[in-house]
Amino acid sequence: MKKRDTLFELLRDRAAFIVSKKNLRKIMTSDKTEDVLESVKKYSGRGFYDKIRLAQIEEELYQLCKRVADHKPKIIAEIGTWNGGTFYVWTRTNPQAEKIISIDLPDGQYGGGYDKKRIKFFKEFAHGRDKNELYFIRGDSKSKDTTEKLENILKGKKIDFLYIDGDHTYEGIKKDFNIYKEYMANDGLIGFHDINTHKEGYGVVKFWNEIKEQYRFEEFIKKDSKVMGNGLIYLNKL
Ligand SMILES: C[S@@+](CC[C@H](N)C(=O)[O-])C[C@H]1O[C@@H](n2cnc3c(N)ncnc32)[C@H](O)[C@@H]1O
Repeated sequence: MKKRDTLFELLRDRAAFIVSKKNLRKIMTSDKTEDVLESVKKYSGRGFYDKIRLAQIEEELYQLCKRVADHKPKIIAEIGTWNGGTFYVWTRTNPQAEKIISIDLPDGQYGGGYDKKRIKFFKEFAHGRDKNELYFIRGDSKSKDTTEKLENILKGKKIDFLYIDGDHTYEGIKKDFNIYKEYMANDGLIGFHDINTHKEGYGVVKFWNEIKEQYRFEEFIKKDSKVMGNGLIYLNKL
């Protein structure tokens, strides 16, 4: 059974959150992609909220972000949030977005998810925005429970931009793609992380190479890099 926090731990967490929230507000000064990526590095908080970590090569994320922001998505969903890095970036570079949805499996592979306490911190990413509503689904992206929760949030609307960075096995990513394609807008964009990670246990390269040519696609891979990489497909374009 999970141990309950003592009063001391609760008070310490409260203090850490207050300081972290204040520091977060100081860095959220611009919607421009380059400024938002810089701000991730400037942020420093306390306790559970000490950092906003990104599992990304910055120039690859920058290029993807620019495409996403130009598309002006109203509904964004991300599979794989971990320490909130990309979730922060989607939120801050898309002031027009109405719903931004995180799906992450607690203790999931390829990062391990995030502590539930961090949700209140992640919600602060939308500070100062009238439009952004943030949602957090904690579960397996492929489970019925998760897709039911997603449907309740979408209320019949479609996703304009989906980022897949959760289960990196070939079977996992294939299932995610096939399940979530059904929730996408006709002109939606789907981003994939790790299209250039050639490691055991990573099946994104294989899946990406199978599907990319069915769509108009772009690859954002740092020169000479042998890891990570972002891929983007445009669903309505060949
Ligand atoms: C590489 S991290 C995400 C990094 C984040 N997108 C970033 O760049 O800052 C992968 C995350 O996917 C989650 N994950 C793994 N399998 C999953 C699944 N089946 N459903 C949902 N999330 C999953 C893990 O818990 C982990 O937090």
